[in-house]
Amino acid sequence: MKSDIKQINVKNNKNIIKTIVSNSSKDTENIAYEFASKVHSGDTLALKGDLASGKTTFTKGFCKYFNVIENVTSPTYTIINEYSGDIPIFHIDCYRINNTKELLNLGIEEYFDLDGIILIEWPEKILDFLPENTIIINFEHNNESNNKRILKIEMNNNIKSKI
Ligand SMILES: Nc1ncnc2c1ncn2[C@@H]1O[C@H](COP(=O)(O)OP(=O)(O)O)[C@@H](O)[C@H]1O
Ligand SMILES: [Mg+2]
Repeated sequence: MKSDIKQINVKNNKNIIKTIVSNSSKDTENIAYEFASKVHSGDTLALKGDLASGKTTFTKGFCKYFNVIENVTSPTYTIINEYSGDIPIFHIDCYRINNTKELLNLGIEEYFDLDGIILIEWPEKILDFLPENTIIINFEHNNESNNKRILKIEMNNNIKSKI
């Protein structure tokens, strides 16, 4: 998995442009809410990180900004959840994806052409499908505290100015 991460960085020429510390799940929701104000319909966010690193919590806060009223939970079994807020939000969890055929059966390619924002948990599983301008957020646990997470944001130079 580590080598995949390196690959996507090199392939898409992404840089870490921001590191944010979260000290609680509420913090992570607030960070996501603020982040959501800066992205636009058509953007894709890849949320990378271990189990319980805060990817779904981030998605909750993000959806709040767009006034989503549905309960935001990890679509681990459904793979894709669509929420109808101010704009459509597609929440994809690739944890249970085993191969490209499964992705093609879901019609994954078509989602990238729709209006709205896509957030993807376990994006390592669909590297080949990710748009070039995908914004990557790495979620890391921290030994100092159970409730601390480090969020590192990576994106292409050409869209850096947005954040
Ligand atoms: N700073 C933090 N940010 C996000 N979640 C946190 C934080 N501190 C503790 N947690 C807890 O960690 C878990 C994160 O779960 P979740 O967002 O579902 O992770 P993931 O989708 O990455 O598996 C939740 O139980 C949450 O309460
Ligand atoms: Mg999750």
